[in-house]
Amino acid sequence: NSLIELSKKMPKTELHLHIEGTFEPEQMFAIAQRNQVALKYNTVDDLKAAYQFTNLQDFLDLYYQGMSVLLHEADFYDLTMAYLEKVHSENVVHVEIFFDPQGHLSRGVNFDVQIRGIYNALQDAENKWGMTSKLIMSFLRHLSEESAFETLELAKPHLKWIDGIGLDSSEVGHPPEKFLRVFEACKNLGLKITAHAGEEGPPDYVWQAIEQIGVDRIDHGNRALEDTRLVEIIKQRNLTLTVCPLSNLKLCVVNDMQDHPIRKMLALGLNATVNSDDPAYFGGYMNDNYASLINSTGISKKELFQLAKNGITGSWMDEHHKEQHL
Ligand code: ADE
Ligand code: ZN
Repeated sequence: NSLIELSKKMPKTELHLHIEGTFEPEQMFAIAQRNQVALKYNTVDDLKAAYQFTNLQDFLDLYYQGMSVLLHEADFYDLTMAYLEKVHSENVVHVEIFFDPQGHLSRGVNFDVQIRGIYNALQDAENKWGMTSKLIMSFLRHLSEESAFETLELAKPHLKWIDGIGLDSSEVGHPPEKFLRVFEACKNLGLKITAHAGEEGPPDYVWQAIEQIGVDRIDHGNRALEDTRLVEIIKQRNLTLTVCPLSNLKLCVVNDMQDHPIRKMLALGLNATVNSDDPAYFGGYMNDNYASLINSTGISKKELFQLAKNGITGSWMDEHHKEQHL
């Protein structure tokens, strides 16, 4: 299929990627053994068989279990480098990746251990291949705003390595406004802001992310389509949506890839992008996400180019750097 070949060759960006969600079972078992920690599953196949989710929380339960074997700086480096090597082979030229410091701090892994491992891998990828990157620290929304403030304090010595702040984990019941004051503090530090919104949560959460938090980007945003006024605001503000097709399928945000709303988003004039979210759990990296859209949705060459272009314009590269890719 020529569109699939084209999508593989296109220079791409990844703007919605949780580094802990790139933890492949084989690597998880290897690091667990190296660190002498036990996993709940006996074999790689047993673990893979558990990757059957009916909603976001089903996945998150396994995601937090999986990341619990990460203890040392080398673990974070190896995890990040394995991801970067994979997407370099897929013609991804720029990545903006999330990490979840609270998911590691709670297990006694210091902030500097986490960020040094991740950042060194990002630097090595830039030196080796010219792949550029941004690093986004995410707050876990099922925890308190106070915990987010404590995390921000720990991040302060490392702000030169942190470009933006995100909001992830269990969405329903934890609206953006719960984190209003901590995001205000982040903005005052000059950090970019993004938030997961409208993945499972209602359009009202997307409104809050835009009007109350003042986000620079929206992660997912699927349910924004339920509200025509909200669609208009997203267009007016020129906000990018970081959409994740295979994630949406695996977490039952869509029931069938044929029904995926990404073409509708483009038709409405929204800046949708393609991303892999947690590729080790959802069955595919960047090129697999494009391939599933090509195989199931009747997407055109023009739409594919638009999605890739949106990934550049919606990134947090500087304007000069964007122009080099357009
Ligand atoms: N953490 C990792 N992936 C996530 C997603 N898709 N939604 C919310 N939290 C997440
Ligand atoms: Zn996500």
